[in-house]
Amino acid sequence: MSSMGEDEEVSSFFESSPPLKKMEDILQKLNGFIEHNSSGGGRRIVCVTSGGTTVPLEQRCVRYIDNFSSGNRGAASTENFVKAGYAVVFLYRSGTCQPYCRSLPDDPFLECFHFPDNSNIQVHSSHVEAVKMAVMDQQAAVAEARLLKLPFTTIYEYLQMLRLIATALKDVGPCSMFYLAAAVSDFYVPWNSMTEHKIESGSGPLDIRLAQVPKMLSILRTTWAPKAFCISFKLETDAKILIDKATKALGKYKVHAVVANELSTRKEEVVVVSSSGNVVVRRDSDKPESIVEDNLIRLIVDRHSTYIKESHS
Ligand code: PMT
Repeated sequence: MSSMGEDEEVSSFFESSPPLKKMEDILQKLNGFIEHNSSGGGRRIVCVTSGGTTVPLEQRCVRYIDNFSSGNRGAASTENFVKAGYAVVFLYRSGTCQPYCRSLPDDPFLECFHFPDNSNIQVHSSHVEAVKMAVMDQQAAVAEARLLKLPFTTIYEYLQMLRLIATALKDVGPCSMFYLAAAVSDFYVPWNSMTEHKIESGSGPLDIRLAQVPKMLSILRTTWAPKAFCISFKLETDAKILIDKATKALGKYKVHAVVANELSTRKEEVVVVSSSGNVVVRRDSDKPESIVEDNLIRLIVDRHSTYIKESHS
């Protein structure tokens, strides 16, 4: 067990992280987005995290450990938050599923378009609706400053960006929300003990010692953005331990709710665990288009409304 306290572990993680590239640029976009949405109309702002973080094994990274997440949950939730009137900071793993693109085929360029002649390009009729949604809805959300997309790859980038966003949202108070659907690495190789060059493969099995990534939920709740409404996720592959783990996380990190999901059924149902009891949320199985996020975001938005009202009274 580590002898360091939680705060020290967090500071030591950040001090030893490689500096975030384009930090000024990210900050400028972020502050502009928050200013635009919080002044005047006072729109609610949610930070949706999505996709898995990587843990590099070499500083000039060739190999890495990855965390599973297609990004579907984060992308679908983002669309629903925008629909519900929120501005969304979408903190996502590069290359994972994007809002408004869930209905596109795997290789949209090659599968959606055709050339009736050399100077014209057309969309196959079967993909028109999907392409329209991907292009028009996403462009509208970005143009109206309702969607800001910020990519990450490594655990270092993810946690530094999460801290930037949380700190930038601090003044938005109860009208801000964190919806932490990203699959975040629990173990990593500290940057200063990581080899610079590609690990050689000629000398037999590889022994690596992984350090524990400090849990950032506590510090997010207590220090970075204490007034924000905060939803975390719990993923398990063993349904028997899921609710117990989620309930423990709720108590330990003092988040407002934990969305518990099991890997194999995650697209059918989730359980929202909170101090007011556990609610099972399912997709409407009689409607083929229905996804669990339609009902999940409705519930989360309702809970957020109550939280805002209670904070003002
Ligand atoms: O992307 P899809 O394929 O659609 O799948 C969606 C999903 C299953 C990935 C998603 O619904 C989900 O459950 N995401 C969280 C998965 C996870 O990795 O849980 P965890 O037990 O590692 O983390 C629990 C919570 O702690 C998370 O909210 C995470 O943001 C937070 N955490 C984790 C590690 C860490 N060092 N600090 C943290 O704050």
